[in-house]
Amino acid sequence: MTDAATQGPLIDVIAGARPNFMKIAPIIAAIQQRQQAGSTLRYRLVHTGQHYDEKMSGEFFTQLGIPHPDVNLEVGSGTQAEQTAAILTRYERLLQQAPCSLCLVVGDVTSTMACAIAAQKLRIPVAHVEAGIRSGDWTMPEEINRLVTDSITNWFFTTSEVANQNLRKSGVGDERIFFVGNTMIDTLLANLPRLREPAFWPALGLQPGGYFVMTLHRPANVDDPAGFRQLLDAVNRGVRGLPVVFPVHPRTAKTLQSLRGDWPTLKPVDPLGYLEFNHLVRHAKGVITDSGGVTEETTVMGVPCLTLRDTTERPETVTVGTNELIGTNPAALQPALDRLFEGQWKAGGIPDLWDGRTSIRIADVLERLLCA
Ligand code: UD1
Ligand code: UDP
Repeated sequence: MTDAATQGPLIDVIAGARPNFMKIAPIIAAIQQRQQAGSTLRYRLVHTGQHYDEKMSGEFFTQLGIPHPDVNLEVGSGTQAEQTAAILTRYERLLQQAPCSLCLVVGDVTSTMACAIAAQKLRIPVAHVEAGIRSGDWTMPEEINRLVTDSITNWFFTTSEVANQNLRKSGVGDERIFFVGNTMIDTLLANLPRLREPAFWPALGLQPGGYFVMTLHRPANVDDPAGFRQLLDAVNRGVRGLPVVFPVHPRTAKTLQSLRGDWPTLKPVDPLGYLEFNHLVRHAKGVITDSGGVTEETTVMGVPCLTLRDTTERPETVTVGTNELIGTNPAALQPALDRLFEGQWKAGGIPDLWDGRTSIRIADVLERLLCA
């Protein structure tokens, strides 16, 4: 890589796992736009390799027009510590050989935290997109990632006023907080006209408003076979015979393989491309999920969302949007689904600044910070 002093500041854009790809796509596009307008900002796309299957990674690059990564650290899977250690070691080596001016991390996955640590220890400043969100639940690896990342971040890009308040409470000054909105929604709004039916739509006999979509991948829901079986039983009982399209995350597939059950409504499919998945969500009667990002997308598309978790780090999807926390007790699902079938689900609204222009705001701030 070339010298930042002569060629303009170099931003490492870090991506590692599925929910990172839709967050970085519009940021890279906004930096490219600035470059075309004469900016000296440069970026280097670093893929840690945390997710590596074509259906968990490569397909998003193709569908969302993300450039091929400049570097792939190829860390693969492992325990939390193994994965963290591999990213730390390999990203540190990259930075030693070819430093950058700023490390920009997104979201709350292990790659987010590990790259922030490696950079900050080499005195490279860190910017965190989706900073300040908190579930308060330390049993979630993502909450540890959020706390650690935000404790060593220089510049915070936030999605909500609640996130701003969380950061202020932890002592971050307003001059380091940039309330810009949600990059995941930039990607959603830009791609709404491109959403497309998955190939299995006719084979499953799907009709708009006549099916559910379900995604589950939190360890608390899917790692214990007995608990997972009860959850699937409850879903199957509660959906009044409608099909439930269930793109199965690889973590979930491991447990599902060992389970036997009678779930005629469940239609397990491989993880879907972004355009197919969000087409399904947009036309669904409702979504059952434990994902974070999906609750934001259902909010913007106005689709009822039942979240099988006790907490959320995205409270605006509940207070403003269409999301409701059902909890992890399968018994709570039936009454919530009954309310949905009876037409009593809230309509919801759209949180402030989730307007499709977040990445442009981020690029503006980066330019001011780095090119001044
Ligand atoms: C990770 C994130 C989680 C995020 C989720 C999105 C952390 C701690 N967790 O969880 O926040 O919501 O991604 O999808 O960063 N696997 C494959 N192929 C792949 C990737 C994973 O088969 O391409 C399997 C492996 O067996 C692996 C398991 O899935 O052990 C879990 O992967 P991992 O990246 O550790 O965590 P996720 O559960 O995917
Ligand atoms: N998604 C997808 N295909 C799928 C399931 C999810 O494209 O089969 C997208 C979804 O639209 C959202 C993102 O993946 O943009 C959410 O990622 P995930 O649920 O894996 O992680 P989380 O947001 O919970 O961290």
